[in-house]
Amino acid sequence: MTLPRRVRIVEVGPRDGLQNEKQAIATDVKVALIDRLADAGLPAIEAASFVSAKWVPQMADGAQVMARINRKPGVAYPVLVPNMKGLEAALAAGAREVAVFGAASETFSQENINASIAQSLERFRPVVEAAKAAGVKVRGYISCVLACPYEGEIAPAAVAGVARALYGMGCYEISLGDTIGAGTPGRTMAMLEAVATQVAVAHLAGHFHDTYGQALANIYASLQFGVATFDSSVAGLGGCPYAKGATGNVATEDVVYLLHGLGIETGVDLDRVVDAGEFICAALGRPTNSRVARALLAKR
Ligand code: HMG
Ligand code: MG
Repeated sequence: MTLPRRVRIVEVGPRDGLQNEKQAIATDVKVALIDRLADAGLPAIEAASFVSAKWVPQMADGAQVMARINRKPGVAYPVLVPNMKGLEAALAAGAREVAVFGAASETFSQENINASIAQSLERFRPVVEAAKAAGVKVRGYISCVLACPYEGEIAPAAVAGVARALYGMGCYEISLGDTIGAGTPGRTMAMLEAVATQVAVAHLAGHFHDTYGQALANIYASLQFGVATFDSSVAGLGGCPYAKGATGNVATEDVVYLLHGLGIETGVDLDRVVDAGEFICAALGRPTNSRVARALLAKR
């Protein structure tokens, strides 16, 4: 068994973590969070989404966030775009990387972006083309790769088909989302085996929500499969507005602790991520969801 020597962590807290927050969060708080995460050594920080403000009001200030962050050289600040309108707004805000987001479940696709899977792929194609023509990298997300809040278990072949389509249209990486955190390592492996027949594992990322407490186990299984990019959220913030009961992503602090414990390099300073988590939890007025942060803070 060989594990990757280095893993790239994509911090999604400022987007996936905050998008579901009901309370108002000042733009400057979002900006300060992103800057702290960059200072902690995270190589990619998903900073905003350019979606309908009626659907996701918390992300309505994406352009201001992008204007105010201190963009560190070498750090990527991707943003979500569901369509051409979103891409145009993202480009106007100076985004250098965007992400389109589809699903392996028809019902979730309809609920999340008001389109069937086939319609969404047709909608993404010109978005990816226009982004690439502007020199902007495109990541592709797939939601519900293991389970769907409406349809239950999702067949690995369905995920493989969407992954192939997104990679084929020009996404450089496919992030596989266990949106409701219901997956277990055996099913994660079966899904990865199916997807890897269509897209090389070097172009796959794991995006595990931790609703059922399985995320670290699923990451470990994915590492054994050769996956070397994982999405995580500082302090385990978040949930999904279109997946009732889904909790946040796996906490960045917990993932960094796991990886460093395995001798895998990340370039991330765990103590500084814990600080960033403390900052955002104080701003939101709630305790961290990271077990590692809790343990380390208790020792300070
Ligand atoms: P729609 O209603 O079908 O869109 O929504 P439409 O094209 O008919 O437009 C309706 C209105 O939205 C119009 O405004 C448009 O201008 C506006 P009106 O004329 O009514 O005033 N509009 C926009 N405004 C701003 N930015 C845009 C945009 N597009 C249209 N880009 C749409 C379709 C996709 C827009 C909508 O469903 C939407 O915004 N959905 C966003 C859903 C979302 O953000 N979900 C959370 C992110 S995905 C996620 O969390 C999962 C992930 O983490 C992986 C995982 O865990 O599984 C990535
Ligand atoms: Mg997510």
